[in-house]
Formats: sequence, structure tokens, C-alpha cells
Amino acid sequence: MPNRGKKQRKNKRTPGESIKILISGPRIQRRIQALAKQIRRDFPDEPLHLVSVLKGGVFFLTDLARSISGEVSFDFIAVSSYGQDTRSSGQVRLTRDLDSSIEGRTVIVVEDILDTGMTLQYLLKLFQQRKPKHLRVAVLLDKPDRRIAPVHADYVGFSIPNEFVVGYGLDYSERYRNLPYVGVLSLDSKLAKKAAKK
Ligand code: PRP
Repeated sequence: MPNRGKKQRKNKRTPGESIKILISGPRIQRRIQALAKQIRRDFPDEPLHLVSVLKGGVFFLTDLARSISGEVSFDFIAVSSYGQDTRSSGQVRLTRDLDSSIEGRTVIVVEDILDTGMTLQYLLKLFQQRKPKHLRVAVLLDKPDRRIAPVHADYVGFSIPNEFVVGYGLDYSERYRNLPYVGVLSLDSKLAKKAAKK
């Protein structure tokens, strides 16, 4: 019998790009179920307000929201960084604010990835000023090796090595967000040189 699993592991995509599955779709879904239970255990009687950061966090938010029992609402915020590699200089700015107040609410910030931590550091400071009852952070992926800001996530799906990952919300030039799994993107040497110049 042909080994379909192996074949599927390295999928050719746009010419010069290939993706190797790091975390399969079913594994992501199982982990989200467990996180949802853990969150509900921590706040058994509270309405939970999930706040996701556009765009990458959207897939995680919708799956998590559907897995948490009881009352759940959600909202979105968007940020961007100034120019190239500015996360490391901390220059994050708000481009879309929340629709509703978070004062007195139990808020879970939902992110696809915690990388340098600059985005969450900025958001947590902002949200703290708005006086939520509780403020917690849930991230699907954590890349501890890349951390610059001392940000801690209360709920972590998977801790991953410092690789360029795409899928399940994470993009490369806006592509691959819709993959149901998380994969490591490889560029052929020509493309890699071009991307490094950008
Ligand atoms: C990604 C991710 C986080 C942020 C984490 O967003 O969704 O918001 O980077 O990185 P940090 O820990 O280094 O701050 P991105 O800027 O890629 O935007 P996107 O979600 O629209 O893809």
C-alpha cells in the first residue's frame, strides 16, 4: 500500500515553497478541547469574553469559542507594527479597537502565536487600564526562544521551536492561513534570499 501519510507531509505549494506538517489538524482540535475545559474549570460560573487579535487569531478564537461551555462572547482588535522588524523595538499601534467595554468582565485574549511578546505586552497594558475583572491569555503556539518582552500566557496549545510556521491563521504574504494544520514553510534558496532582503 502506498504510504499516503508520508506523501502528505511535504506538500508542494506555490513554486519554490513547501510545507511540512508540524501539528496536524486533529491534534490542534484535541488540544483546543482540552484548553476549553481548562478555561471553564478556572472560571466555572463566569461569562467569558474572548478577545482576538486580527487576523491570525481568528481560527483559534472560533474553535475555542465553540468548545467552551456556558456563556461566551467575543470581540476583535487589530494592531500593526511600524515598518520592518519593529516588534523588537516595541512600536506596536492600535488600528482597530474593540467594539465594547471590557470593564468588569472576564477577558481571555486569544492569539495564534506568542513570538517576541511585543504585541501581547502592548495589548495587556492597554486592557489592564480598562479594568477587566480578570485578564488571561490563551495562545495556540508559543515560541519561547524568540521572546523579548516578558509576557506569560496562561493557556498554551503547543510550545514550538523557532521555525517559520504557517497555517491555522498564520500566513506567509497573506497565504496559507486557511490550512487546517500548522506547518513549517521552506523556501527554495532563490526565494529565501529574496525574502531575507525584504
Ligand atoms: C502575529 C500574531 C501575533 C503577533 C505575535 O501577527 O498573530 O499577533 O504576530 O508576534 P509577537 O509576539 O512577536 O508580537 P501578525 O503581525 O503576523 O499579523 P496577522 O495576525 O494579521 O498575520
